[in-house]
Amino acid sequence: MSHEEHQSFIKTPKQLIAVVILSFVAFIGVAVLASQYVTTGQKGLPNEEVTATAIAPVAKVELATAKPANAGPRTGEQVFQAACAACHDTGAAGAPKVGDNAAWGPRIATGLEALLKSATNGINAMPAKGGAADLSELELTRAIVFMANKSGASFKEPAAPAAAEGQAAAVDGKAVYEASCAACHGTGAAGAPKFGEKAAWAPRIATGMDSLLKSATGGKNAMPAKGGNAALSDAEIKAAVEHMVAAGK
Ligand code: HEC
Ligand code: HEC
Repeated sequence: MSHEEHQSFIKTPKQLIAVVILSFVAFIGVAVLASQYVTTGQKGLPNEEVTATAIAPVAKVELATAKPANAGPRTGEQVFQAACAACHDTGAAGAPKVGDNAAWGPRIATGLEALLKSATNGINAMPAKGGAADLSELELTRAIVFMANKSGASFKEPAAPAAAEGQAAAVDGKAVYEASCAACHGTGAAGAPKFGEKAAWAPRIATGMDSLLKSATGGKNAMPAKGGNAALSDAEIKAAVEHMVAAGK
């Protein structure tokens, strides 16, 4: 009927209802967002992040003592800092302090073997392995030597057994094979040379280990790189190939 109607978006009762509903929905949306902002607390971080920030110092302490996978044995000083210093730096719980030659003298006199034995099993207020159950005997011995030598002893740093230093020797080719290669090589699936089938392996073995490693690592036709398990190290691939070659000879 009039001029004004053309200027308004709302022309019918239906449209009016729609607009009212839409603004209500929009209002609820804003309210929900606002309440989330308030309940998440500091800086609008989601609750999990707030919790993570709050526990971070504790988590970090655990990380400090946790041994990274595949790392070699830790040095005496590393072990000491991570697992022994809390008591032996401060004398807490009556622990003989590092550098306190008088406190260590009679203990050192019992010999490294005896010290290792009490540190392994614990003694009075000293917990077994200082509470770090994952320490190897080598690591524990190194920590004792580190402490004792700073307190008047002159023990010899124990050498790492060759197998413990390098990862390669510790890798179990059979286990790698079973976990990552047997699916195809156990059955001959996808045309894979079957485990133990000499005729299938002979021409391949003839190409030499380097060539086999290259195909196992980089893939070859239907054989995926690393058998599809990208996480495998070169040492693990080598061990698995050696396991397969030994059976195919
Ligand atoms: C919770 C505290 C605590 C921690 C952690 C701890 N110690 Fe001790 N340690 C002691 C106390 C206390 C003694 C003295 C025990 C006694 O002779 O009564 C001791 C004694 C020792 C002794 C002397 C044992 C003997 O036969 O006289 C050695 C060796 C030793 N600790 C090694 C270690 C090493 C290595 C670590 C780390 C891997 C470690 N300790 C971590 C508390 C601790
Ligand atoms: C998805 C199936 C599959 C898996 C899993 C698999 N392979 Fe293979 N593999 C094959 C096939 C197929 C061939 C034959 C490729 C060709 O020569 O065409 C082969 C060939 C090989 C060869 C011979 C290469 C050559 O140069 O002749 C080696 C060595 C080998 N695989 C090692 C491994 C190792 C080690 C693993 C586990 C880490 C593994 N494979 C996992 C399918 C697989």
